[in-house]
Amino acid sequence: MAYPYRHPSETLVLSQYFGDPEARTLKGWEARGGYQALRKALGMSPGDIVNVVKASGLRGRGGAGFPTGVKWSFMPQASEKPHYLLCNADESEPGTFKDRELIRWTPHALVEGCLLGAYAIRAKHAYIYIRGEFFEPAQILARAIEEAYAAGYAGKDVMGSGHDLDITLHLGAGAYICGEETGLMNSLEGRRGEPRLKPPFPAVSGAFGKPSTINNVETLIAAVHIVQNGADWYKQWGTEKSTGTKLFCVSGHVKRPGNYEVPLGFNFKEFIYDVCGGTPNGKAIKAVIPGGSSVPILTADELDIGMDYEAMAAAGTMLGCGSVIIMDETTDIVKQVRRMVDFYSHESCGQCTPCREGTTWAAKILRRIENGRGQPDDIETLLQISDNMSGKTICVLSDAAAAPITSSIQKFRHEYEARMGAGAPVLAGVR
Ligand SMILES: Cc1cc2nc3c(=O)[nH]c(=O)nc-3n(C[C@H](O)[C@H](O)[C@H](O)COP(=O)(O)O)c2cc1C
Ligand code: SF4
Repeated sequence: MAYPYRHPSETLVLSQYFGDPEARTLKGWEARGGYQALRKALGMSPGDIVNVVKASGLRGRGGAGFPTGVKWSFMPQASEKPHYLLCNADESEPGTFKDRELIRWTPHALVEGCLLGAYAIRAKHAYIYIRGEFFEPAQILARAIEEAYAAGYAGKDVMGSGHDLDITLHLGAGAYICGEETGLMNSLEGRRGEPRLKPPFPAVSGAFGKPSTINNVETLIAAVHIVQNGADWYKQWGTEKSTGTKLFCVSGHVKRPGNYEVPLGFNFKEFIYDVCGGTPNGKAIKAVIPGGSSVPILTADELDIGMDYEAMAAAGTMLGCGSVIIMDETTDIVKQVRRMVDFYSHESCGQCTPCREGTTWAAKILRRIENGRGQPDDIETLLQISDNMSGKTICVLSDAAAAPITSSIQKFRHEYEARMGAGAPVLAGVR
């Protein structure tokens, strides 16, 4: 299958140049209209840019879906302190692989987004924090940054505008928690990647103790298109409260895994069965995680909903960062949940007891159930642990770890019960 697979139902805005190597170079990017949005932005006031982004309804694509223009407007208007724009290119959520593709195919779009975003929040310096394992995308991005400096799109007096805009690429060492905004800031400063208590919020005291805004890769690239084409153009797609297009990363038991760009609000069932081709051998779907492993699971009969923030919330889950993980009828739910909780247990930074102890304890119980050694109270204990892990910690990794446990017990309790003392296979050396 040629890369990338395109389905006629897709709306290509952010991903239109995926698979086009010419778009990676400065010359190729300029030929495709690159850096026009930055030029336009520099002719506007920062406040006007923020207003356009606000009017577009763009919501952050890193997971929480917070309105981007509103976030930008939280930055101080008249402050002596330097401001920083931070681009979150850590992309560690299990099942997520969109940001690295945006960087790999359209590195200049991100460079432009960072420069534009920095100008809008009155920052002179943007940092891109990229996961260290993304060695190839990081190299491509480093080359694009060099080209942007050489062309006068970055550095001193950008495009003769009188504004100085610098951009620094920073490689992380590969820890999920460094994707959490304050963990990322600590890591950028050379400290341990541990989240900080809020308040103070980043707009007051962020990176290096200075007002900072942090945005996801996809968010900043969407802002480039919005400034270039206007808020109304962007709002032609999506729903009233979830505007624009979004990249969805699809993996698991699916015929055509990969990245797909569709307008928000697209029917989820149609997306899975038509756009992504359903399951490889036509097996029935058992469960789907719609937004990365940290959001509640949906069952096959809950899929007839829109792919937007509101519809997902109404269905008791979240759109998250748009990572759709499909599980067919052969999936062992207890095993899958145990694997997810193992991941969170491994990635917990350990600062908060409910997270550090809760993830470890839950993983141990899940492993016991998986191996047919479940004890009568185990399901209730898991629910209690999950309850204690939610809403009580410095960051929401703990809540994220609890989500698959509670939602899977709620929807697949019978699978847990069937394993209790049922003599399921016992793996040597595993308790
Ligand atoms: C444990 C954890 C991991 C996260 N990882 C990422 C990540 O890899 N990339 C990302 O953009 N946001 C990640 N986030 C969300 C960020 O904290 C932050 O909300 C986001 O970067 C803001 O950008 P946005 O407003 O453009 O969405 C993570 C959050 C948590 C709690
Ligand atoms: S919730 Fe977990 S990952 Fe987040 S700060 Fe606390 S211990 Fe660290």
